[in-house]
Amino acid sequence: MIRKAVIPAAGLGTRFLPVSKSQPKEMLPIVDKPVIQYVIEEAADAGLRDVLMVIGKSKRAIEEHFDRNFELENALAARGREAELEAIRRISTIARMHFVWQRELNGLGDAVAYARDHVANEPFAVLLGDTLIESDPPLTRQLVRVFERFRDPVVLLEEVPREKVHRYGVIAGTEIEPGLFKITDLVEKPDPSNAPSNLAIAGRYLLVPEIFEHIDSTPRGKNNEIQLTDAMRSMVKNRPMYGLKLNGRRYDIGNRLDFLKTNIIYGLRRPDLRDDLAAYIRELAAGMPKT
Ligand code: G1P
Repeated sequence: MIRKAVIPAAGLGTRFLPVSKSQPKEMLPIVDKPVIQYVIEEAADAGLRDVLMVIGKSKRAIEEHFDRNFELENALAARGREAELEAIRRISTIARMHFVWQRELNGLGDAVAYARDHVANEPFAVLLGDTLIESDPPLTRQLVRVFERFRDPVVLLEEVPREKVHRYGVIAGTEIEPGLFKITDLVEKPDPSNAPSNLAIAGRYLLVPEIFEHIDSTPRGKNNEIQLTDAMRSMVKNRPMYGLKLNGRRYDIGNRLDFLKTNIIYGLRRPDLRDDLAAYIRELAAGMPKT
């Protein structure tokens, strides 16, 4: 059984300055819920209720978000605001949270290495906090199923336009059944001209403890960082690895524009906001110059 999830969240969030100067970008809201809560709910839905967050400076807000806040609870109770009280209390029960501090920001592979003691000898998931995924069944659950079938690592893949492959880890592989790939190689942020495919690694991984040995022997790669993709490239030489193509929708909220779009999309789904927000968007659009 897979019980543990690792969420690297130590980045500086430079794409969201100035708001990320003193606030972790993982706490940015999508409508009224921090991004990180959506991600942890996805893990918990798949039965991964033991969550290790690899954090950096200025991440205390994340800890506080998942802790109880009795003062707030008492105030809500006194005002009879039962629904909010229930929602606030529930947050601390979604998962058992653990934190470890990444001492220096040396890349995703290095961040994952901090999970070594915590995951011990169990398989574990890695969920990147700047990606929200909507799929049915929920994505991490699908990855767990593939892992349970093969007992080998599996990553989420998304087909991206060729000109965008340089933003991602990209795989080479063969489709062994619809939507399921056997991976033969992985390259971090390749140049579109020599990328092995347009199948990008999309922020969700199911890994095995063996990865730590590969991270240990992985030299600095793209951006002078220790890349998880490079460690997986080393691991795939010894052990099968699978890729599951996304059948759903991924919201990359790691940049401003997609973050704003995601807020609008999620806002339009909220019964309490939908009509007013849609009317406002129509009004705005009507007044916009055609480009
Ligand atoms: C990281 C990984 C990359 C992956 C991407 C999206 O890159 O290194 O392999 O494709 O996340 O999940 P980053 O977005 O941190 O530059």
